[in-house]
Amino acid sequence: MQTRVLDRSELETAAELILAGQLVAFPTETVYGLGASVFHEEAIESIFRVKGRPSDNPLIVHVHSLEQVKEVAREIPPLFYQLAEAFWPGPLTCILKRNSSVPSLVSAGLDSVAVRMPSHKTALELILRAQVPLVGPSANLSGKPSPTSVEHVLEDFKGQIAAVVDGGESEFGIESTVISLLGGKPVILRPGSITQACLEKILGYSLEVEHAVTTGAVVSPGMKYRHYAPKCPIVLVDTMAQLLEQLRAQPQKGKRGSCMVLSHSALNLKSPGIQFHLLSAKTLYSLLRRSDAEGVQVLFVLCDQQMQADEALMNRLMKAASPVV
Ligand code: TXA
Ligand code: MG
Repeated sequence: MQTRVLDRSELETAAELILAGQLVAFPTETVYGLGASVFHEEAIESIFRVKGRPSDNPLIVHVHSLEQVKEVAREIPPLFYQLAEAFWPGPLTCILKRNSSVPSLVSAGLDSVAVRMPSHKTALELILRAQVPLVGPSANLSGKPSPTSVEHVLEDFKGQIAAVVDGGESEFGIESTVISLLGGKPVILRPGSITQACLEKILGYSLEVEHAVTTGAVVSPGMKYRHYAPKCPIVLVDTMAQLLEQLRAQPQKGKRGSCMVLSHSALNLKSPGIQFHLLSAKTLYSLLRRSDAEGVQVLFVLCDQQMQADEALMNRLMKAASPVV
């Protein structure tokens, strides 16, 4: 199969492909999604297949209007409208009760459904043209770093999907915040750019965060897998002293560029063995992919206090570094 790269003027073609059951990757403000109609079961099956995604990991459904939420969810609580008013369109995914019109495959058999309205204009226009909500897991092979550009999508899926719509580099670079609205009190299942503090400000009370990785409880099935991981090991250190100690202990430190160091501010490290890059939520995934492409042997991240305050970035780094598979 030839994978077409479409631009914004070709969204009608993208919508036609989707309605014919093909997979079309599309840009969002967080990362690129792998799109299919939520009602096309065969297309949903092929999403799981091409991504190599475990069948117990449910998909997010993307809508272009509040009206469309009713097509996929039922018994929608007032709390949802309060959050949608504050954060939609944008990087917030809400878990609601699933409408029976949504194939249970989409939600991996759960009685719930994850819904979000992206703010990327191209994504919204594509959903509008397709006239159906679109499922959109991140458009990467399962376990790999999420894609923040067309090139990343092609790296993983060239020849495997019908098309990718070019929307430039992703604005945020990290996936949406996922919040469950199923119980009385909302629970954050995945941190993202909409922070716990932003959510608490709107809700007026403090929230709980589900730490599925550490507790082993599987509320959001996706949280139990090792994610976002490059080929080489990642080592997280808190201080410059720890970093220097780790670097000194590296057997391959002499080999040009074999060791990558990421930090959010410039470091004065000079050695031919070390390549240094500035890290932010926006650059994380492209740097992880770059470490793969360049055959980096080990990757160190200096997580100083400022970085540790970024809950979404730290969540992804810990998962990438985690031995959980
Ligand atoms: O920013 C994003 O959310 C991107 C863009 C493309 O929209 N999408 C994305 O999808 O990150 P994905 O499939 O890579 O991550 C979906 C996450 C997984 O952790 C999954 O377990 C969780 O959402 N999820 C989906 N449906 C759920 C449900 N019904 N209950 C609990 N968690 C759910
Ligand atoms: Mg993903």
